[in-house]
Amino acid sequence: MTRGMAHKSTVEQADLDRLQAHLEEHFQPRDHEEAQELILGALQHVQHEFGWVPLEASQAIADHLGVSVNRIYGLLTFYADFRTEPPGEHFMLLCHGAACFVGGSQKLIHELRDNYGIGQGGTTADGKLTVQIVNGCLGVCDLAPIVQFDHEKYVGNLDVDSFNAAIEEITANGSQREDHGAD
Ligand code: FES
Repeated sequence: MTRGMAHKSTVEQADLDRLQAHLEEHFQPRDHEEAQELILGALQHVQHEFGWVPLEASQAIADHLGVSVNRIYGLLTFYADFRTEPPGEHFMLLCHGAACFVGGSQKLIHELRDNYGIGQGGTTADGKLTVQIVNGCLGVCDLAPIVQFDHEKYVGNLDVDSFNAAIEEITANGSQREDHGAD
């Protein structure tokens, strides 16, 4: 995953206002140590609401808790679960478990790198697809190698051509992203 605080975000002011209200209500540190826990809690809240952690949200947390944005950036870098870029319109899990590996998932990973310029955690340049490669098993080994799109649609028995066709088909559709903005 590419990380960086310089990413230009598209966060709505109303979302930031709602975040500020949430911070005022739930995040009031009593001391420096507690601030650390509250930073993590606030970042988790932001990621849940926005789907990622925009720079503006990090700044709002820093201002509210009286800590530097660099301290927050350090935590974002340390904890790999935090995403500092907006996710793509679609999400793909690529299974790289044993059966999928034997079935050729490595070729699909190479295709992602060579044809789309992305690897684990990456998002295509057009913002259409974010990829997660999993070394565990998706539980459908008889269809290996397999991918799952948008947490629901499985496409299996893939070779490079059918893999590209599946990506083309899913990215031709509109966004399936969950709305993280509503309370
Ligand atoms: S190893 Fe990929 S589905 Fe089981």
